[in-house]
Amino acid sequence: MTELQLKDKTYIASTYNRFPVDLVSGKGSLFYDANGKEYIDMGSGIGVTAFGACDEEYVSAVTSQLNALQHTSNLYYTSPCATLAEMLVKKSGLKKVFFANSGAEANECAIKCARKYAEDKGVLGSVIITLEQSFHGRTITTLSATGQDSFHKNFLPLTDGFKHVPKNDLNAIKEIAKNQPVSAVMIELIQGEGGVICLDKNYVLELYSYCKQNDILLIVDEVQTGNGRTGSLYAYMNYGILPDIVTTAKGLGGGLPIGACMLGEKVEETFTFGTHGSTFGGNPVCSAGAISILNRLTPEFLSEVNAKSELIFKTLENAEGVESVSGMGLMVGIKTKKPVKEVVSYCIENGVLPLIAKDKLRLLPALNIPTSTLKKALGVILNALK
Ligand SMILES: Cc1ncc(COP(=O)(O)O)c(C=O)c1O
Repeated sequence: MTELQLKDKTYIASTYNRFPVDLVSGKGSLFYDANGKEYIDMGSGIGVTAFGACDEEYVSAVTSQLNALQHTSNLYYTSPCATLAEMLVKKSGLKKVFFANSGAEANECAIKCARKYAEDKGVLGSVIITLEQSFHGRTITTLSATGQDSFHKNFLPLTDGFKHVPKNDLNAIKEIAKNQPVSAVMIELIQGEGGVICLDKNYVLELYSYCKQNDILLIVDEVQTGNGRTGSLYAYMNYGILPDIVTTAKGLGGGLPIGACMLGEKVEETFTFGTHGSTFGGNPVCSAGAISILNRLTPEFLSEVNAKSELIFKTLENAEGVESVSGMGLMVGIKTKKPVKEVVSYCIENGVLPLIAKDKLRLLPALNIPTSTLKKALGVILNALK
């Protein structure tokens, strides 16, 4: 164990099982450890650093705001926060934005909004339906929304008012709605932490119509799938739907903490003065970084993301040691024949840093990873899989 690893283990709460790599610097999709060893980053901080490490445009946007004004609280107006909200609204088709600091907080906001929407209609005791194998965050309420018992263990009692149903099963939702009011259905279009599993397109379209017909809010959690990750600006755009609420975080901030809960027409006026808030939400430095990222997620750039996605799928589908490949865009899950931990150890030894989701190898590279770097990483991964 290195000195750093020992210090970390001594002083930091034991919630993480870090890979034995001490990172000190990075540029684009390359990281360097304390001994100068180079790694290709195939995880981008779990889908966060959309343009890689220390991207010049991003650093310049963030540092110029840092030099101008780093924080004001939400008691005053600042341009980056309002400009980012305007961009999100115009690009998404939703109507208003609440800024938070993380994915979990963006989801907390969506949950509060759905509850208040129901109460404003005079409906008390409504529930929010989420899917089994979903992941919506680590706060007690977003854990309660998360449809995985393994995350609930040790943390009872959870927040009331959530029901979990199997994915791709609209009847299960209809059955619940027969017996009690449902304020919202909350889904990830691709379950990231659940193992990179895409929902069936027909199910999504039927669920969308069903929610519309029954005045049930459709909340799409795009914390992981948003901001270009799936090859569209937001994953719901791949389905031709417009959810009532979209939450996002991760890639939006490019490495600084920001979450956004975007509110559609039905709920644009649901929050009123004092019904929600955040000290840091919409912080000017994080917002300036997010603006620079959103500005670069152009259709031309997203078509490059899709080309790289195709390269990954073509390389890995039917490759030796691969059972199946799932996902969309640059959010890829690989069911490996070998135990996934063995595959990851080989990769790390050979200078590639992938992720794991459940029993799958998971790739979430920076959206601008150079094709040559991506090919090099895929070469190592192919060897690891054999
Ligand atoms: C779909 C989804 N929702 C919510 C979260 C929680 O986000 P955060 O860790 O920023 O709170 C995650 C994190 O992985 C996620 O993938």
